[in-house]
Amino acid sequence: MTRILHINSSVRNTDSISRKVTREFLNKWQVNEPEAVIVERDLAAHPLPHLTEKTLGAFFTPAEQRTPEQAQIAQLSDTLVQELFDADVIVIGAPMYNFSITSGLKAWVDHVARAGVTFKYGEQGPVGLLTGKKVYIFTSSGGVYSAGPAQGMDFLATYLRTVLGFIGLSDITFIASEGLAMGELGVNKALEQTSKTINELLPA
Ligand SMILES: Cc1cc2nc3c(=O)[nH]c(=O)nc-3n(C[C@H](O)[C@H](O)[C@H](O)COP(=O)(O)O)c2cc1C
Repeated sequence: MTRILHINSSVRNTDSISRKVTREFLNKWQVNEPEAVIVERDLAAHPLPHLTEKTLGAFFTPAEQRTPEQAQIAQLSDTLVQELFDADVIVIGAPMYNFSITSGLKAWVDHVARAGVTFKYGEQGPVGLLTGKKVYIFTSSGGVYSAGPAQGMDFLATYLRTVLGFIGLSDITFIASEGLAMGELGVNKALEQTSKTINELLPA
C-alpha cells in the first residue's frame, strides 16, 4: 500500500491548473492502486505562518528542554515533517509566481528543512535524511521555460530540485504545464501534453 502526500500551493481553487493535473495524476494512481492512502496538505486553504524568532527558538531548543509555548510552536513543523517521513510518494502542485514558487510553498519549505531533523551535517558536508521517496512535481506557468529565451528564468524547478535534494528528496520527476498565458489554445495544448505524460508515468 502506497502512502502519498499530496501538497497543493496554488491560491486559486476551481481554475487552478496545478490542482487539476495533480488530481488527474492521483485519480489515475487510485485506478491502478485503489488502496493507496492519500494525505492532503493544502497550503492555500490552510496557510502556514512565516518563521519568526520564536519559531527558530523552538526549532533549536532540544525537545525535552522546550517551554510549553515552544513545544506548541514546534508541533506544526513536527507534523509537517512527519507527513514527509510517513510518505512513500510526494506529489506537489507548484505554480510559478514571479519566477519561483508561491510564498505558501516557501513557508512549507521553511518548516520542513530542519537541521538535525530532515538534514544533518556529516564529515562530508550536509546529508539529507528523507531518503527512499519518490517525488512528482507538477509545475504550472504562464510562460514557457523548458526551451527558448526564458529558459534561464526558471527559479522554480531549480530551487525545488536544490532544496528538496538537500533534505534527501532527490528522486524528483518534474511535469510542466506551461504556456498557460497563451490563450485557450495554449491551455489545451499544455493540458494535453501533461495528460500524455501522466499516462506514460502511470500506464494502466
Ligand atoms: C501572482 C502571480 C505571479 C505569476 N508569475 C508568473 C511568472 O513569473 N511566470 C510565469 O510564467 N507565470 C506566472 N504567473 C502565471 C501562473 O504561473 C499561471 O497562471 C499558473 O497557471 C498558476 O497556477 P494555477 O493555475 O495552479 O493557479 C503568475 C501568476 C500569478 C497569480
